[in-house]
Parts: sequence; structure tokens; C-alpha cells
Amino acid sequence: MIDDIARIGASAPARISAMASLDELRALEAELLGKTGELTALKKGLGTLDPEERKIAGQAMNEARSTLEALLADRRSVLENAQRAITLASERLDLTEITDELERGTVHLVTQTWDRLVDVFLGMGFTVAEGPEVETDWYNFEALNIPAAHPARGMWDTLYVDLGDPETVLMRTHTSPVQIRVMTDGEPPIYAIMPGRVYRRDTADASHMPVFHQIEGLVVDRNISFADLAGTLEAFTSAYFGGSIHSRLRPSYFPFTEPSAEYDINCVFCEGSGCRTCGQTGWLELGGCGMVHPTVLSNVGLDPEEWSGFAFGFGLDRLALMRHGVDDIREMYTGDVRFLEQFPS
Ligand code: DAH
Repeated sequence: MIDDIARIGASAPARISAMASLDELRALEAELLGKTGELTALKKGLGTLDPEERKIAGQAMNEARSTLEALLADRRSVLENAQRAITLASERLDLTEITDELERGTVHLVTQTWDRLVDVFLGMGFTVAEGPEVETDWYNFEALNIPAAHPARGMWDTLYVDLGDPETVLMRTHTSPVQIRVMTDGEPPIYAIMPGRVYRRDTADASHMPVFHQIEGLVVDRNISFADLAGTLEAFTSAYFGGSIHSRLRPSYFPFTEPSAEYDINCVFCEGSGCRTCGQTGWLELGGCGMVHPTVLSNVGLDPEEWSGFAFGFGLDRLALMRHGVDDIREMYTGDVRFLEQFPS
């Protein structure tokens, strides 16, 4: 038996190193050490030996098994490394490959719209402010005259952040909290616009995205009237869309403005004569506006007897869709170059 064990041990290294693949190696392992393998077969014969011989043969068998196991493991790691090298080589990307024509990308339509809006308002004497996207309940609601139990909270489906007390930290649902920051950080006179990303608990469809963009406007000065609001929106409308597009205001409700209005523009497709896009009305809804509510002014320490102001806010993505006749807001966010390259910057 000792001879048989020695024979297996002596021939094994050459057999193992001859294995060229992991599959072959696995088969040889079964042949040598497996249940029906050569060593196991010999082990069954141990019982027929006398105790002294059995001890010696048993020891030799254990040593042979450990040696074989170590040899198999070494070969396995050699074969695995070789396999990995083959995979890496086959997945290699040639980053030096250049086509004859270099294609230039474009600035995203949302960014183009953002930049153009900022340009128009800078031209009208406004400054630009930005605020954080993660806000507290105070800035997003409370300071804007929307207390906790106010039914108007239903106007904004809010995504809360799991931080601090429940429902105290949130993803801002509109850019209006930046009004509060601008009024607390600075002093009137204020002529500011505040573009930014906003979040709502909404399912994406043709006209909604859970993440989208708004632009907010705020003016606070002495003797500001509703006529200043109407005039500013009209000036902006013709500067941005061209002289044939005008604006109108319709009474509405927002907790942070009084009186409040909704702001429409002439349909940019039919210029007001009525078409499918505007539902034959000649008008497209753009956003909300109004005179800053006295409570909001008091909340930031401004005396409503001394200061007055107006504010407005509208959806930037919506504006881009209107301007370019795109009928599904989701197109803006799929990142499909065939869509994006239609709007060269
Ligand atoms: N924050 C409002 C919204 O997201 C829009 C809005 C309405 C902004 C009236 C204003 C405003 O500044 O005066 O629905």
C-alpha cells in the first residue's frame, strides 16, 4: 500500500501541471482525491492491514493528500490568473481611437434656458441668488405664511429628509424659500431672481418630473405696487419671447402673496389666435405671482408699513418645453443625444 501511495504522490506533480484549464484541473482533483478517487480507494483497504502497518500507511496517506491539495491549489491560482488576463484583454477599451470627425456636445436645454433667463433679468437690473436644495420647514413653508396645519400645504407634495425631528428637514418644493434667505441675508431695496432645482413627491409623466427647475423673482422696495409687478412681467415676456408675445394676470391664491395672481403669456405657437397647444385659448399658463404678504415681511423683520414688494415664480423646464414645442418633459431627462443635439448652444 505504501508503494501505491508513493506512486500516486510521485506522478501527481507532472499530472497536475499538465492541466491546461480549470475544468481539466477539477476533473483531475476528483480523480485523485474525490469519493471514487485513487486515494479514497486505497483508504478503503486500510482496514485489512494490521495496526502497526495501518498507522504508517494512514500517515503516508494524510501526507500525500495534503501535498496533492497544495499542488492543486497552486495550479488553480496559476490557471485563474491566466483566465483573468484573457478576460481583461478582451474587455480592453481603446481610448486612443479617434474618428475623423470630432463631435462637439451642446449645453443642455435646461441650462440654456437658465442662462438666457438670467441674462434677461440681469439686463433689467436684477441680481442672482441661490439657496440650498435641502431646506428646513421654516424656510420652505412656515416663513412663507404656510403654517403646519395649513390646507395650502397640499399644493406641494413634499419629500422629507430623515434628519432631526420628523418632517423638519425637506427637499425644497419650490424656489420661494430663497426669497426668505435673500430678505434675511440682505436689506431692501432687493431686486433678485433665484433659479434652482426643486423636488416633489410626484410620478413622472408628460408634464411632471419629481425633480425640476423653477425661477423665482423678488422685489422689495418703497412704494412697490401691483402695476410694477405687471410691468416687470410684461417687460420680461417681450424680452424673452419677442415683442409679439404679451402677458396677462388672473386672480389666484398663494399663501405668501396678497393679492395673488397667475401669470399667462400669449401662446408662442399661434401668438394668441388659438391652436391645439393652447387649447384654442390663445394663452399658456406660466406661473404664479403677487404682492409679498405682510406676514412674510414681518417674518423676516421688515416693517410692512415701510416696505412692499412683489414676487413671482415659474417652471423653467416648462418654459423651455413651450419655447421649443416639446410635448413631454421626460425627453429633457433621458439624456438621449438625438433629442439633445436638436438644441445646439
Ligand atoms: N412657489 C409657487 C409654486 O411653486 C410659485 C409662486 C407663486 C412663486 C407665487 C411666487 C409667487 O413667488 O408669488 O407653486
